[in-house]
Amino acid sequence: MQVRWAHESVVAKVAIMNDFIDLRSDTVTQPTDEMREAMATAVVGDDGFGDDPTVATLESTFAALVGKEAAVFVPSGVMANQIAVRLHTQRGDLIIAGRNQHVVSFEYGASAANSSVQFALVDDSLGALALDEVLNYLDAELDHQPHVGLISIENTHMPSGGTPWDVADIVALSRAIGDRPLHLDGARLFNASVATGVAPATIAAPATTVMACLSKGLCAPVGSLLAGPAALMERARMERKRLGGTMRQVGFLAAAGLVALTMIDRLAEDHARAAALAEAFAAAFPESGYDPTSCRTNIVAFTHPQARQIVHELEGYGVMGGTVGPKRARFVVHAGVTDDHVSRVTEVLAHFRSH
Ligand SMILES: Cc1ncc(COP(=O)(O)O)c(C=O)c1O
Repeated sequence: MQVRWAHESVVAKVAIMNDFIDLRSDTVTQPTDEMREAMATAVVGDDGFGDDPTVATLESTFAALVGKEAAVFVPSGVMANQIAVRLHTQRGDLIIAGRNQHVVSFEYGASAANSSVQFALVDDSLGALALDEVLNYLDAELDHQPHVGLISIENTHMPSGGTPWDVADIVALSRAIGDRPLHLDGARLFNASVATGVAPATIAAPATTVMACLSKGLCAPVGSLLAGPAALMERARMERKRLGGTMRQVGFLAAAGLVALTMIDRLAEDHARAAALAEAFAAAFPESGYDPTSCRTNIVAFTHPQARQIVHELEGYGVMGGTVGPKRARFVVHAGVTDDHVSRVTEVLAHFRSH
């Protein structure tokens, strides 16, 4: 099967626009004017000594928002996840996680190197973990199989197309695993909250620790937060230091982060635009079997044998996307994407045909 462009006229039209519509990721967002102003005037101190008041405000604001006792500001989502792995596991432990989750696909090696752990993978093709498979791994401890130190989930679940968990499923999982630690990779927790109408603290309640990124849909230039019980977060500060993540006068970034936390409601605009794009992609690539109604937040993701070619050819027409696996195309909506961009992408896709 070959994918090709049917109408050369579209080529010329988009080429002269001379600017790209960047749907590679929501990490490409620019800080807002309000963030730049807040950064310029931030009161800062040496956060290694706990002296930065802006960081302290960001951490307590986030902790309250997600309903946890304390939080720690870290440079990246990966560092937040990796600290959580170190907090909850011993060397040789198993972590149960969905096989497509970020902590698996992109951090498998990091977790092995940083914490000497291994993963027990369960089905997460629709986002939520297959509960029976989780329980099997726990049950297998009785058969002398490895100790499960942590269960990790992702909400929204990026690879399935930014799918938000049904909070009842998180509660059911947490009940089923008893007092085992549960870590929530909430890189896009606020997208999940906006899409489901469930408060971040309610979503995070069953989890022992929760992380969220400020640097994605919320537009902050840098930064993620890890939250959980106060005693655990004290240990998290030590683990952050071990990973080289103590950032000194980082209140400049925390100031942008505080503005980011006021921008949660705006994510609904991204979701509406992504839904429109999902329709256009589904119509352009019917052979992918992509169901546009599965797009509930800001990510359009579908499986197609020619995913790389599609991404490559769209780039030629000014639309930048990406692949998150050999046959998995992904297009992400964020604050830099306008209604006009959606119309232009739709127009380009209307001329894309499969044979
Ligand atoms: C679900 C998820 N978790 C973690 C991360 C890691 O975040 P960062 O790029 O800030 O390290 C990402 C990044 O895209 C992500 O999508």
